Amino acid sequence: MAQTNRDAFIKAKKFLSQFKDLEFYDSEIYLLLIKANNYLNFTELIKHFDENLVNPEYFFRNIQRIKEGEPIQYVTGEAPFFDLDIKVNSNVLIPRPETEGLTKFTIDYIKKENIPHKVIADVCTGSGCIAIYLKKHFPDSDIYATDKYKDVLEVAKSNFEKYQANIITLEGNRLEPLISRHIRLDVLISNPPYVEKMEDIEDKVKKYEPLNAIYIQDGTKFYESYFKHHKEVMKDKFFMAFEINYDQEEKLTFLIRNYFDLNKIQYKFVKDIFDKTRYLFIKGDYSENSK
Ligand SMILES: C[S@@+](CC[C@H](N)C(=O)[O-])C[C@H]1O[C@@H](n2cnc3c(N)ncnc32)[C@H](O)[C@@H]1O
Repeated sequence: MAQTNRDAFIKAKKFLSQFKDLEFYDSEIYLLLIKANNYLNFTELIKHFDENLVNPEYFFRNIQRIKEGEPIQYVTGEAPFFDLDIKVNSNVLIPRPETEGLTKFTIDYIKKENIPHKVIADVCTGSGCIAIYLKKHFPDSDIYATDKYKDVLEVAKSNFEKYQANIITLEGNRLEPLISRHIRLDVLISNPPYVEKMEDIEDKVKKYEPLNAIYIQDGTKFYESYFKHHKEVMKDKFFMAFEINYDQEEKLTFLIRNYFDLNKIQYKFVKDIFDKTRYLFIKGDYSENSK
């Protein structure tokens, strides 16, 4: 029997409310109604709230996925990143607000300090969210997006197509795809896997998101390899921007001192919106006339 969007909303809310341990929001049900009706936005849904729901089977199947605990972003296939709707599936990490912070800080810093940015790489690109946002701000830059996994890069590519962003994807381990092609960067940005304590990862994340995007036995391994190979992959003047874990400042400081010429670089650790140390920025100048 036909039912209106309002009926479906009430039914879904009643159904989900039975499960005391389930955390869900009305906005998630609205989002699934928008999707099932193929509406553009919330305003359109409210306008048609007392009209028949177009695809009830699809809607209630998705409500069932929410009941199972699946993140809404995988159910809808989209996640917000600034003003973008990034396509996601279970092969890629859902973009996080902390990563918006990394991207925003990097863009602002490049603009404010006039940092060269002709060639940029987003290493460990996942959904490609960072790379697309950088391309939007620096349309004339050559932007590379790299990841170890083919099925991850498929998602990144579909986002690049969606936003008609001319970004070059390269498959391979850490810096290898760049070094093997003799690509030299002005800017390297990366949000690599960095969590080394399983207990720091929420159960829902463990169950649904790709573990190889988050967990790594040695949490500073990626940064160490970036530091170790910086002369092979970075130009003489360079900027590196990393998302890091809240407890890595001491170890990373040790590694920076080990791998860089401290007379040639400046580095700083920055906190995220949750007041946790979350970013590391390194600015280098190895050119002849630098001190
Ligand atoms: C924390 S996620 C970041 C995804 C995306 N950049 C973001 O910020 O939302 C880390 C990414 O690193 C990729 N990755 C894992 N191991 C890798 C490796 N050895 N080399 C390159 N990429 C790797 C994963 O596939 C995943 O997409």
